[in-house]
Amino acid sequence: MADHDSRSGVRYATPELLAFIEGHHAVHDAALARAFEAPARHGMPQIQVSPSEGRALTLLMRLLGARSVVEVGTLAGYSALCLARGMAPGGKLVSLELDPGNAEVARDNIAFAGMSEQIEVIVGPALSTLPSLARGRAAELDAMFIDADKSGYPDYARWAASALRPGGLLIADNSYYFGQLLADHPEAARMREFHGLLGEHFETACLPTPDGMVLAIRK
Ligand SMILES: C[S@@+](CC[C@H](N)C(=O)[O-])C[C@H]1O[C@@H](n2cnc3c(N)ncnc32)[C@H](O)[C@@H]1O
Repeated sequence: MADHDSRSGVRYATPELLAFIEGHHAVHDAALARAFEAPARHGMPQIQVSPSEGRALTLLMRLLGARSVVEVGTLAGYSALCLARGMAPGGKLVSLELDPGNAEVARDNIAFAGMSEQIEVIVGPALSTLPSLARGRAAELDAMFIDADKSGYPDYARWAASALRPGGLLIADNSYYFGQLLADHPEAARMREFHGLLGEHFETACLPTPDGMVLAIRK
C-alpha cells in the first residue's frame, strides 16, 4: 500500500533504515565492497548506484536470463559487477566509459571479482562506441543500463530501441534529473525528451527510487 504522503513523494528512508535493509537484501562480498568503495579510495566522484539499486539490477538480469547487456557509464565497475552477476552463464556485458582513468579502476575491480571474461570496458564517448556494438546484431540485445551524461539519454534510448530484442529491458537511472526534471535547463529538457520518446517503442514504468529509475520493455 501507499499512503497519501508516500504517493506525493515523501520518503520514509533514513540512513539507519537503509543500512538495515541493505544488511538483509544487498550484502556485499569482498568484490562488491571493493568496487563500491573504489570511488572514495581513488578520489573519484561517489556517484555509483546504491547497494539496493545494484541488487535490483542483478535480479532484473536474472529474471531476463540476460546474455547480452550494454551499460553506459562504468565509473569504478560497481553496477557492471551487479549486472554481470545476474547474467546467464556465457553472458557478456559491454560497459562504456568516457574517462580512461575510471576505466582502469573498473577493470581492476572486475579482475578482482574474476569477471574479466564476462565484462568488457570500452573507453570513449558512448555515442561513438554504440554504433559499432550494434553492427550486424540489430534487435539482439537483452538489456541496456544507462547511467552516464544526462544530455545523452534520448540518443541512448533511440539506440536501445533499435538494438534491444522484443522483450528486452532498458533501465535508466537519474530519471528525475536530480530532482530538476521540470527545470528550465537544457539538460532537464533532454531528460524530458527521453521520457517523451519512450512510449513509441517501449512499455514503461518509472520507479520512484530516490532519483527515479526507468524500466522500459521493448515492444
Ligand atoms: C554515474 S557514473 C556511473 C556509475 C556506475 N554505473 C555505477 O553505478 O557503478 C557516470 C559515468 O559515466 C561516464 N560518462 C560520462 N559521459 C559519458 C559518455 N559520453 N560516454 C561514456 N561514459 C560517460 C562518467 O565518466 C562516469 O564514470
